Amino acid sequence: MHNPVKSESFKPELTIASPGRINLIGEHTDYNMGFVFPAAIDRRIEFRIRRNGNLDECNVYSTDFKKLLSFSLEEVKPSEEEWENYILGVVFEIQKLGHLLKGFDCQLQSDLPIGAGISSSAAMECGLAFALNSLFDLGLSKMDIILLSQRAEHNFVGTQCGIMDQYASVMGQTNQAILLDCRNVTHEMIPLHLEPYTLLLLNTNVSHNLASSEYNTRRSECEQGIEILKNSGMKINSLRDISEDDLIESKRNLSPVIFKRCLYVVRENQRVLRAASALKENHLEEFGKLMYQSHDGLKNEYEVSCPELDFLVDYAQNSPHVLGSRMMGGGFGGCTINLVRKDYVDSYIEEIKKAYNQEFGIDLDPIQVNPSRGTFAMS
Ligand code: GLA
Repeated sequence: MHNPVKSESFKPELTIASPGRINLIGEHTDYNMGFVFPAAIDRRIEFRIRRNGNLDECNVYSTDFKKLLSFSLEEVKPSEEEWENYILGVVFEIQKLGHLLKGFDCQLQSDLPIGAGISSSAAMECGLAFALNSLFDLGLSKMDIILLSQRAEHNFVGTQCGIMDQYASVMGQTNQAILLDCRNVTHEMIPLHLEPYTLLLLNTNVSHNLASSEYNTRRSECEQGIEILKNSGMKINSLRDISEDDLIESKRNLSPVIFKRCLYVVRENQRVLRAASALKENHLEEFGKLMYQSHDGLKNEYEVSCPELDFLVDYAQNSPHVLGSRMMGGGFGGCTINLVRKDYVDSYIEEIKKAYNQEFGIDLDPIQVNPSRGTFAMS
């Protein structure tokens, strides 16, 4: 039987838009209680949703992938299909909080590329949580939506992610970046004035499948570092609490790998704060230098880059019209974020696409984005 949720004439009660995010600087610092500097963007997933009158039957249809997920609210458990886990995980976490859901039908449509490091996953989780909250009047706050979406990712998808992606997707504001302190979970909005430069994402179109397992490994390496430092007598709770000098003094207690990981995190936190000041004072060159340093740390100390990302950053470094470039997100593929002179963007894209294709035989996709508002109801 043709499911009505697949139909083009599907009439929703509500339409919710949930954006992806960029991160200006501050990678792998969120789960280390540090600072990050993301913004929501004007690429998003739309959720067209309505109650279907059933007690427990739900249907979610992706118009892009032409895939239907049907499940019962009484039996929500992880699936083999990754995209289904974003949906199921959110429903599970909402029910776990004791909220009563009923059957719903939902159509999804997205212009967010998957695996590009711009958080289509957080957009999916937060958008559905936001939609169900409105549809069933659950009384969840924005912070509840962020936290339950993060738990969905931990428990159903299996990535022990930090809070950055969900926070940015929900809290974003037009033309602003979010300087988020992940220890207190408080933020300062910083207006983005980048003229005569602009942000350009370059999607490598590779997504090495190390990403999730290596992500969890990095997280546990940082935890091991903290344990060792604590056992050596330091009064710290996270890598946020230690200075670069103190870490270097403790180098002998740590294995070379753990030391490198910790050093990266401590330095990256400092870079985020310096980058925020640089932006406030309109020092774009300083901001760009910090982007390059961040990439260098991600490549050599945290070791989450890959040849395709490094190629793009090296290329940028040789271009007089690019002030900064770095890999963005968890790593092992996805996008670089670049600060490029506006009037040079088109020729830069043409040039770097050609060079990338010659080197790897892969198409490079430029994605132009604007800092935009967080998850919202379109109607
Ligand atoms: C992924 C995670 C985030 C963050 C970044 C790296 O996007 O979901 O929590 O850790 O990687 O900065």
